[in-house]
Amino acid sequence: METKVTWFGHATLGLQTAGYSILIDPFFSGNPAATEKADHVKADFILITHGHSDHVGDSISIAKRTNALVIANFEISNWLGNKGLKNTHAQHIGGGFQHPFGYLKLTTALHGSSLPDGSNGGNPAGFLITTNQNKKIYFAGDTGLFGDMRLIGEEGIDLAVLPIGDNYTMGPADALRAVKLIQPKHVIPIHFNTWPLIAQDVNGWAKTVQAETDSLVHILQPGGSFVL
Ligand code: NI
Ligand code: MN
Repeated sequence: METKVTWFGHATLGLQTAGYSILIDPFFSGNPAATEKADHVKADFILITHGHSDHVGDSISIAKRTNALVIANFEISNWLGNKGLKNTHAQHIGGGFQHPFGYLKLTTALHGSSLPDGSNGGNPAGFLITTNQNKKIYFAGDTGLFGDMRLIGEEGIDLAVLPIGDNYTMGPADALRAVKLIQPKHVIPIHFNTWPLIAQDVNGWAKTVQAETDSLVHILQPGGSFVL
């Protein structure tokens, strides 16, 4: 069975695998790039990388409507519990767990994680998902470049989803270095062009990555999908 990754704009992603719909960082309301609406999007699971409002987004309302299981670090899970969500699963960096959709491990990310009301959101994370068909997908989350991306690459990454927007995260030059460390088969750039502050020439970036690495870049339009 195939795994489909859909980019809903900014850092909001959908993953369809093993018959489940998984939302990552579901930010629809107030997201100028969003191609979906929070009040009818499907979700069996919701994964949150860190506490910032453009990543927690509509998680609470979607989880209440769908009863999706929300997976995040311990601090964010507790915060969601205090907001009335019962169906949460806390993990933390370095820890993996076999969920119905695949094995999910939290990875390091260099960033902040304060929650929308100022609460402590713990440390930010990325996600390494091994699907039930043994495909490995690395969602870096919001992060700067770090050398241990090489260790993540050693796992054999089929698809890496990386921020390239600069200012808040890696920009194009460091995202290129990230591709060289991770050596994924496929790459999808995200977290750019949502606002003028993170506008990037994604086509130029893709050309450079194609020229300097063996990874295949897939430029999605918001709403577009890639099948792995
Ligand atoms: Ni952030
Ligand atoms: Mn962000």
